[in-house]
Amino acid sequence: MSLETNIRHLLLPGCIYNASGPRCTDIKELLKLDKSESALVLSKSATLVKREGNPKPRYFDHDLGSINSMGLPNEGINYYLFLAPTIKNKPYFISVNGLTLQDTLKILNGTIRNKNVTGIEINLSCPNIIGKGQLAYDMTEMDTYLHTIFNTIEFSLHPTLLIGLKLPPYFDLHWYPMVTNILKKYPIHFITCINSLGNGLLVDSESESVVIKPKGGMGGIGGKYIKPIGLSNVRNFYLEFEKQNLKIDVIGCGGIETGLDIFEYILCG
Ligand code: DHB
Repeated sequence: MSLETNIRHLLLPGCIYNASGPRCTDIKELLKLDKSESALVLSKSATLVKREGNPKPRYFDHDLGSINSMGLPNEGINYYLFLAPTIKNKPYFISVNGLTLQDTLKILNGTIRNKNVTGIEINLSCPNIIGKGQLAYDMTEMDTYLHTIFNTIEFSLHPTLLIGLKLPPYFDLHWYPMVTNILKKYPIHFITCINSLGNGLLVDSESESVVIKPKGGMGGIGGKYIKPIGLSNVRNFYLEFEKQNLKIDVIGCGGIETGLDIFEYILCG
């Protein structure tokens, strides 16, 4: 059984789709998603040009979740735009992650001209770029970033394009109204909560070492570890949007493995 849902005007036959991450990087993976039960197909975060990413090993899985410091390996935005017509069965969303604001503007400029793209998720929360912080933890920087995007890009060229933001986990309750007060200034249709929990450290006591190579072993934590934080972020944004009467949909992400996990996210908003 699947639960119909919608992201604003986009009706979807089910409420589950893939997170942007390591398994939606190349056309083979994206076509597999197109044939799957996923309600839509979302790409890996695209930069302006192709990137190899951080040195390996950079991903490690264990029972309670994973750690990764992939460093944005991806094929570059033109690849994800070019393959858009091959995604025939489902709406196609592209995750966008310019390494600079100028890069993001160039990526968006190309993306709005592609009618085979149904939505974009602007990633404000990648924890794995060496030497860079997570944009959405700096309120002034995030506001400037969004202000420039919405005052530069002619979104009217693609009036049905859905625009969302991938946010990092927030931990203190006072962040939710603060972030919301920035988001509500812009025509944002949805937010995705949460990105991985940045800069965690998994240690292997047998080998007495960290398990991934980049950044001294630090990377984004995903999986079971982070579900309670994901649920709380969804709940808190849902309540804040309701309080302020804002129409921004909240997409839950993080630690989802079973139907019960999904049901818990639905209960939270
Ligand atoms: C990567 C990790 C993220 O959490 C993200 O949002 C984007 C990219 C990465 O390391 O590739």
